Amino acid sequence: MEKYEKLKQIIKDAGEIVKDGYASGVKADKKSATELVTKYDKEVEKFLISKIAPIFNDYEIIGEESFKGGALPERAIYIDPIDGTTNFVHKIPHLGISVGIWENKEPVFGAVYNPILNEFYSAVKGYGAECNGKKISVTAESELQNSIIATGFPYVKHEMGREYWWVVKSFKKLLPKIRDIRRLGAAAIDLCYLAKGKVNGFYEVNLQPWDVAAGILIVQEAGGEISNLKGGKYSLEDKIIVASNGKIHKKLLENLAEF
Ligand code: IPD
Repeated sequence: MEKYEKLKQIIKDAGEIVKDGYASGVKADKKSATELVTKYDKEVEKFLISKIAPIFNDYEIIGEESFKGGALPERAIYIDPIDGTTNFVHKIPHLGISVGIWENKEPVFGAVYNPILNEFYSAVKGYGAECNGKKISVTAESELQNSIIATGFPYVKHEMGREYWWVVKSFKKLLPKIRDIRRLGAAAIDLCYLAKGKVNGFYEVNLQPWDVAAGILIVQEAGGEISNLKGGKYSLEDKIIVASNGKIHKKLLENLAEF
């Protein structure tokens, strides 16, 4: 627990770098036609790794900006320095620093910090989920028709391939069955919104381990459910994540297109 408290402080300190960048305005480079990166993504990741590595020296650290690919290890710390980089560049305050610790392919600690809105979400396996020190939980909504579902779009959408068509087909099926869709722009925070009871479900294709490693535990510890598209146990290598308050999970799965 002491290590986790130190880690939370490191994440809060990293938030100061994000705040500076957000206030001063950011020039972005393109990773691809649609994916952006800024010097702040790299700086925050460097800062986090330099502070976390000496404390958690028996874990592999996998950061969005420095990961070179390959199989995911048994014990790892997944870092997304700024989840919601596009929002960061456009000064939309839905973004967060995400740090998730996994052991034996299971999440044991997760923290997502939005320094702009001063919201710090965290969870330790078996101890519940909290936001700014207060316990949070998913909604009890059981009707899909009364549900707000958050989602995101894959960066490869411009290629109009399989992922793009899955998004379109899922919209066609799901949209008439729910209250509404939200595309807020940061998967880690979307999962925290589910955990806090602001939305009732979430799904997305092509997310990376660092986008969800922390949010998954926060949702589970808030009483929610996480699965792959088939309703089976979600692994960080899965293509599609489906998350909900548990009550609408089956109906949500039934109303997404097959991939
Ligand atoms: C992105 C955000 C976004 C999601 C993308 C992610 P990034 O993370 O979470 O909501 O739709 O798929 O890659 O690139 O800003 O860290």
